Amino acid sequence: MMRGSSCWLNRRAEQRFRLLAISTVKSAKIKLLLFCCVALTLLAFFTSASSFILWNNHTPPLPHSSDSRKGYSIVMNTWKRYDLLKQSIKHYSSCPRLESVHIVWSEPDPPSDALLKFLHHVVKYKSKDGRQVKLRFDINKEDSLNNRFKEIKDLETDAVFSIDDDVIFPCSSVEFAFDVWQSAPDTMVGFVPRVHWEDPLKEDGNKFRYGGWWSVWWTGTYSMVLSKAAFFHKKYFILYTNEMPSSIKEYTTKNRNCEDIAMSFLVANATGAPPIWVKGKIFEIGSTGISSLGGHSDKRTECVNRFVDVFGRMPLEYTSVKAVDSRNIWFW
Ligand SMILES: *[C@@H]1O[C@H](CO)[C@@H](O)[C@H](O)[C@H]1NC(C)=O
Repeated sequence: MMRGSSCWLNRRAEQRFRLLAISTVKSAKIKLLLFCCVALTLLAFFTSASSFILWNNHTPPLPHSSDSRKGYSIVMNTWKRYDLLKQSIKHYSSCPRLESVHIVWSEPDPPSDALLKFLHHVVKYKSKDGRQVKLRFDINKEDSLNNRFKEIKDLETDAVFSIDDDVIFPCSSVEFAFDVWQSAPDTMVGFVPRVHWEDPLKEDGNKFRYGGWWSVWWTGTYSMVLSKAAFFHKKYFILYTNEMPSSIKEYTTKNRNCEDIAMSFLVANATGAPPIWVKGKIFEIGSTGISSLGGHSDKRTECVNRFVDVFGRMPLEYTSVKAVDSRNIWFW
């Protein structure tokens, strides 16, 4: 009897064990699946986070002949955002072919001694390979957006990288854009494309419309790259200062907008060719992320139409070319 009941008990226990075993197998599978999901998410997070934290070069530098070792100058527009300025300068100072940094200063007060000291120190400390990046301030009396395109007398390089203080690109992206510019030095080469198009309806009497990032994304077509992050030849500073119609310069000063569209018009009018959009990682460190993505396009539409009137024609040309560093592509 004892035997029988123990046998019965055993069978019950065995059954239970089997059920338990099945459910543990099931939950093990689910756990494995969950684990994979979590692992993949973490992997994705860490790869983007590490590239964010390091923003550094993962690609080896291209070999450059020592003859053409002339680099580029950064011309940075800034306005009362000293933390962003410090962060940007600190970052770009380590870029290999950077020769000098010019900070366009349009504030009523000159830069403080503490700021000057910090920036000079950072530039000196970050410069690599025995190279010394020069740091200069261009102090302006008048507060105008045209200041960023003023002729700079002591500019040693032909190439200018025009950049706002609130966006950061990894050195690898900047250097790649510089390579692209060197293959087309009359052209504007930049990271932030925009487009215009002809409006058949002309609702508010405007023949042209300005299209933000979503228009470019949707159509794959652009006609401008913004000077918030673009390479161009220093000769365009001279052209902008001396040849840009004063009505356009006054308009940009008064409305605190559209100096970048004006520059796009100027270069397109001079070359008869479209700019080049370069793929690059962008990190917005300011709080202006939204305005750079969309919105505020009515004012910009207004600018495009005014400038067309002044130029007497629409100089902008369309393109859908995008320059990509082929070392970073896995499939082609
Ligand atoms: C636009 O190009 C034309 C023809 O090359 C030139 O005569 C004119 O001065 C240019 N306009 C501006 C504003 O640079």
